[in-house]
Amino acid sequence: METRKAVTVKDKAATVRPDIVAPAAGGNGNGATQEEEILYLGIDLGTSRSSVAASNGIRETVASVVGYPKDEVAQKMLGRSVVFGDEALRRRLSLHLYRPLENGVIKFSDDPESQPEESARHLRAAGDLIRYIISLAKPKSGQLVFGVIGAPSQASQHNKRAILNAAREVLDSVLITSEPFSVAYGLDELDDALVIDIGAGTVDLCRMHGSFPTAEDQVTLTTAGDYVDKVFEQLLRKRYENAQFNRNMVKRIKEKYGFVTGTNERIQVDFPVDGRPTSHDITEDLRTACASIVDPIVKSIHKLIASFDPEFQERLRHNVVISGGGSQIIGLGKVIEERLADMGGGRVTVVEEPVYAGANGSLKLAYDMPKKYWEVVK
Ligand SMILES: Nc1ncnc2c1ncn2[C@@H]1O[C@H](COP(=O)(O)OP(=O)(O)OP(=O)(O)O)[C@@H](O)[C@H]1O
Ligand SMILES: [Mg+2]
Repeated sequence: METRKAVTVKDKAATVRPDIVAPAAGGNGNGATQEEEILYLGIDLGTSRSSVAASNGIRETVASVVGYPKDEVAQKMLGRSVVFGDEALRRRLSLHLYRPLENGVIKFSDDPESQPEESARHLRAAGDLIRYIISLAKPKSGQLVFGVIGAPSQASQHNKRAILNAAREVLDSVLITSEPFSVAYGLDELDDALVIDIGAGTVDLCRMHGSFPTAEDQVTLTTAGDYVDKVFEQLLRKRYENAQFNRNMVKRIKEKYGFVTGTNERIQVDFPVDGRPTSHDITEDLRTACASIVDPIVKSIHKLIASFDPEFQERLRHNVVISGGGSQIIGLGKVIEERLADMGGGRVTVVEEPVYAGANGSLKLAYDMPKKYWEVVK
């Protein structure tokens, strides 16, 4: 299986953006030039992980989890009022834990009135997470920060507004794009390509045809990584009634062994039974769970291809690119490719850097986007 590499943006770090006139253009009084003043960020805000790629070369990724100390003892022990990522997961017993993003958008942001308190808490956690991710890129004091944030392709206007509001305090200008478009842009796949970003909350498909994709070019499915975990857990519970495990454990097993191809090897893992570690064969259930996302993906590919200009359909079919954490399921590209045979054949490639493909593309977009597309938030 071939992999696809992102176009490097390193060389561009030194280019001046003549079309973007920074509010403090002309220097900040200490002799800095405009290009030094602006830090460009590509941000991939994900249900499971969020990543940033910055024009100063920094790249960071963090689990999209925010924790607040449960009480004064927890606060004293932690020495902080908020904890992020894997550390928050490790210390979850002392924390009120939030995963503020669901399907890549801020939870409850579509209908805040339905649960105002929950909505406000998630909004606060999302804001803290976005600020934290941006701080990981180490902007210098006084530096202008322009960020392109990737969200699922069908995030609503409400969702996008909530992301914008959360980013307002820490970014000077912001642009929200659809995640698969960012991936496509980063790979320079702007023409006759079908990009599929397989995340935790959503699978986002986007058809590229040499101009900005519109709503008709995009499909968002909720049968993504979290769905695989749910199916896997249900299958295992049915098969091994006495085994003890939780969703987090099955997710880790999936990330280690996830596959969809035929295999003669058996995958054995230990689960406690009555407190005693006991080996269990999980091969078939893992394959079935991983394969459960294939059908909806193939149907959506079919929909996007069948409704495309007939002259270009073949080119599109032969240029399907998969990215996101879920693209690491062993054999997924091959199985999708096999299913494309029914539609006249096709070719599927996997991006080389599934974790950073979105953030890299968003960073590249940040360099290239003319001023009119940016929303000045400060
Ligand atoms: N090696 C792997 N094999 C299979 N699945 C994996 C692997 N590594 C990560 N995943 C899964 O990929 C998903 C996370 O992918 P990614 O980080 O792209 O999602 P996200 O951007 O946080 O989610 P979304 O885009 O839906 O908001 C999770 O479901 C995770 O379990
Ligand atoms: Mg994602």
